[in-house]
Amino acid sequence: MALTILKGTVISAPALGKLDVTERGYLIAEEGKVTGVFPVLPKRYAGAAAEDFGDALILQAPADLHLHAPQYPMMGMGMDLPLLDWLNTYAFPTEARFADPDYAREVYRRLAQDLIANGTTRVCMFSSLHRRATLILMEELEKAGVTGYVGKVNMDRNGAPNLQETTEESVAETLRWLEECSDFRYVRPMVTPRFTPSCTNELMAFLGRLAAERNLPVQSHLSENTAEGAWVRELHPDCTQYWETYAKYGLWNGRTVMAHCVWCDERERRAMKDAGVTAVHCPDSNQNICSGVAPVRVLLREGVKVVLGTDVAGGDTLSMLDAASSAIRASKARRVMDNWGTDFLSAAEAWYLAASAGAAFFGQQPGFAPGNSLHALVLDDSRLLQPHPLTPEERLERCLYVRQPGAIRAVWSAGRKVFSAED
Ligand code: GUN
Ligand code: FE
Repeated sequence: MALTILKGTVISAPALGKLDVTERGYLIAEEGKVTGVFPVLPKRYAGAAAEDFGDALILQAPADLHLHAPQYPMMGMGMDLPLLDWLNTYAFPTEARFADPDYAREVYRRLAQDLIANGTTRVCMFSSLHRRATLILMEELEKAGVTGYVGKVNMDRNGAPNLQETTEESVAETLRWLEECSDFRYVRPMVTPRFTPSCTNELMAFLGRLAAERNLPVQSHLSENTAEGAWVRELHPDCTQYWETYAKYGLWNGRTVMAHCVWCDERERRAMKDAGVTAVHCPDSNQNICSGVAPVRVLLREGVKVVLGTDVAGGDTLSMLDAASSAIRASKARRVMDNWGTDFLSAAEAWYLAASAGAAFFGQQPGFAPGNSLHALVLDDSRLLQPHPLTPEERLERCLYVRQPGAIRAVWSAGRKVFSAED
């Protein structure tokens, strides 16, 4: 791992809406950490072996900050119901299958490999409530080179007969899972109350204390769907807004990621900004299960941290390139809904959210900043190239919009080469 030199057209997103481009340049990492991007090879590396990808694009590997691993077997199916019916009819029966460790092993091995083949090297991921399957998921991610956080899901009410824990089971299994996953290096645990309707107050209070005591990050869902929001208000008459049901149990802070945030009003958005909570925009899922169109531009303008997620299997693709173009489309739908009062996302902005903003949750600086852990992919778009030359910025935009099977040629995660299309 000591020295990595990658040659190609290096594009990174150092700030929202800005791209750094070095055509036929060198991305260099030492001991897995980025040294820098150079237009010519610095003298001190003369003679060192470089991997030359010609004119292919070298991009930051993106981060998927919200997806459900046990819903992978139903990806692309069952999109005919709104959230709460969709959970009961499709998601819960699918997740219940993960009581079987062999089933879990087979699905999770494939999922981990498919994530890497899509260039996703960092995740915040929901497992199911099953402790054993969650450990299998963590093993398979770690083996494939996916890094980040995984949560054993907690749900002690409003589940299904074969997909629900008692409060005592949820507490005991969570504690045991934390003990059993303590040796993982790249995949770490995250506290995961499924969403407010799935957790009793007692369980929420336990999870809040656990997160504080063990300094663990938290993930859940927030204001995804209007029926869900009304249900949360019924369950918590003492809270005027959804976010307060997390805040009152200590589940609302700078290490919290909340998926969707479609229906957050100004006060809820301010609560996110003030606490440093990260909003995970999941545009494919929001459209597939008719949740709505998240106000992504307004969240950004008001200073809320925004990242992207696929929300598989509300989402129908693992590709964060697809998620980025979907975020642009959603922002355009929102612009129409807002009477042209909000601007849509540019390709550079969407890619910043997928790559740099996601990496920021893992303590990284934007772009290929020196010192960042090397997370990169090589994208060979030569089959799309025109007889006339395109700018690197045009090429990136096309790569977000146009699906190109097999175009990802190689992937590095935490400094390690974890995928090569030649293998
Ligand atoms: N809210 C609670 N559980 C889920 C889930 O599995 N998917 C989505 N999209 N929203 C949820
Ligand atoms: Fe989700």
